[in-house]
Amino acid sequence: MRLAIVNGPNLGQLGRREPALYGTETLTDIVERARTLAAARGVELEDFQSNHEGALIDFLEERGPCLDGVVLNAGALTHYGLALRDAVAALLCPVVEVHLTNVHRREPFRRRSVLSAVCAGQIVGFGAMGYLLAIEALLALAARDQSAATSNQGGETP
Ligand code: DQA
Repeated sequence: MRLAIVNGPNLGQLGRREPALYGTETLTDIVERARTLAAARGVELEDFQSNHEGALIDFLEERGPCLDGVVLNAGALTHYGLALRDAVAALLCPVVEVHLTNVHRREPFRRRSVLSAVCAGQIVGFGAMGYLLAIEALLALAARDQSAATSNQGGETP
């Protein structure tokens, strides 16, 4: 199984960026923690960060076909990135939307996500732990799909 953690604009600044809101861990620290969890679960983990929507789309187009799931914190693109939304919608694997902060308790513009409708689910407000929860969610989804496929080997329509 192969997953990716994808981070959008300004998330490369974690640790320095508004630490009272986003915490003092850097993105490297967070990815390292995620990598440790993934390794313990026998999962390969890729990671990618860009401040540019097109670069995020290029990554998803290129790597998406090789992935079994994506953990995506698109930063502010969450709220208006329609091209990114279309790239997520085109993926065959599930995507979990993550936000470090509880976007629903912040400015009204952060409550709207153009990504949520094309994601398997959303995890917000748990800081860096959200990325780890998202990995667990993707593993649980994969296990559920696997067991549904096994129990349907008789060929009945689900
Ligand atoms: C964020 C929330 C977004 O509204 C913001 O633009 C970010 C970070 C979060 O992780 O809480 O860059 O995605």
